[in-house]
Amino acid sequence: MNDKNVLVGLDVGTTKVCTIVGQTGSDGNIEIIGIGTHPSQGLKKGSVVNIEKTIKSIQCSLEEAKLMAGVNISRVSIGIAGSHIYSFNSSGVVAVKGREINQEDVDRVIDAAKAIVIPSDREIIHCIPQEFTVDNTKGIKNPVGMFGVRLEANVHVVTGSISLIQNLVKCVEATGVKIENITLQPIASSEAVLSPEEREMGVVLVDIGGGTTDLAIWKDGNLIHTQIIPVGGNHFTNDLSVALKIPHAEAERVKVNHGSVIPEKFATNNNVLIQSGQGPKELSLKLVAEVLGARAEELFNIVKEVLDDKGLEHYLTGGIVLTGGGALVDGITELAEFVLERPTKLGYPHSYGGMTNIMQHPKFSTVLGLLLESQKKSPAIAVDEHHTSSSGELIGKLSNSLKQVFKEIF
Ligand SMILES: Nc1ncnc2c1ncn2[C@@H]1O[C@H](COP(=O)(O)OP(=O)(O)OP(=O)(O)O)[C@@H](O)[C@H]1O
Ligand SMILES: [Mg+2]
Repeated sequence: MNDKNVLVGLDVGTTKVCTIVGQTGSDGNIEIIGIGTHPSQGLKKGSVVNIEKTIKSIQCSLEEAKLMAGVNISRVSIGIAGSHIYSFNSSGVVAVKGREINQEDVDRVIDAAKAIVIPSDREIIHCIPQEFTVDNTKGIKNPVGMFGVRLEANVHVVTGSISLIQNLVKCVEATGVKIENITLQPIASSEAVLSPEEREMGVVLVDIGGGTTDLAIWKDGNLIHTQIIPVGGNHFTNDLSVALKIPHAEAERVKVNHGSVIPEKFATNNNVLIQSGQGPKELSLKLVAEVLGARAEELFNIVKEVLDDKGLEHYLTGGIVLTGGGALVDGITELAEFVLERPTKLGYPHSYGGMTNIMQHPKFSTVLGLLLESQKKSPAIAVDEHHTSSSGELIGKLSNSLKQVFKEIF
């Protein structure tokens, strides 16, 4: 088992697998004691496409983190993304059994809210309460202890493909560790980057990774929408490589070191020297910015469509927070602000003790969030030494909750 008070976040991303190990002190504060990152070689657009390569990358990342932290890792908290993720809002109503609402009533109403027929190849990953209504009083965060006869819950439900989740679970478990919990990646990133005030005001977290861009939209402290867009930083690089006919590795280097999404920043004679198949050649930085700018604009237009579609244009006063490695392209916050017509900033993970300064990079938002999720949930798990979550059991847990739901309906 993990050494005492050790929390581990494992982010299996499209470009990197990252593990961080934290330790909670007696004051409850987290100290980061180990980090392991390794290039990811088995994922496409957030989903596992090569089991062997994914296992190898996970192993290397875990090994590195274990060595640095000097502790044993046996349980991890992982993230999930990919274009198979689909989320929606739902609601349910129950009659309160006694006069005072207790936890059992809350559990029943949440089960009722997720009693929705979903395709047999999908499972519910999260069912997150937004707010409760007791009789006619809306906007209640925690109804336990209140008097009432009718309890209603609004929830945000996140579903994913059972087989794609199983593939990820299998890869992680093949390295000999157990999975404590699975969190949707933008929910984890939100935990690491957003303040409670931002979530209250209304904010859109946009995590631009390598293979996907993950959205989490918050309002009044509630998670109101999540979505995975299958476009990420790798698409920016591919565009450069194809449009300017340069090798992929050179395209990545140019993007990271010289790229921008604002062509107006460059004079026409601003060039950079690159190595191509035909030897060294000069590349116009204005042209590079035009290619990257077109892709970034397309991405933010997709985000805008999501906001318009959800009718959220006027409600998100906290603005936009960009995070993830892909958010580091020069000029991207300005472009997002222009397209989305809202204040936009770059979101860095909150800092904690220990090696936290190494983690001060937007590409580590998800993994830090996973560690924080594990801290939120671990007290219950830490005492249960027999807790296991093999892929079969995760699905088993799901079918139990579905059975419960069907019992409620029929
Ligand atoms: N300094 C930088 N400037 C521009 N882009 C960068 C920079 N650093 C990293 N990137 C880009 O960020 C992307 C990787 O981001 P990140 O590490 O957040 O992705 P990931 O978690 O592996 O992928 P995903 O979340 O999509 O599964 C790559 O496309 C990379 O080119
Ligand atoms: Mg990521």
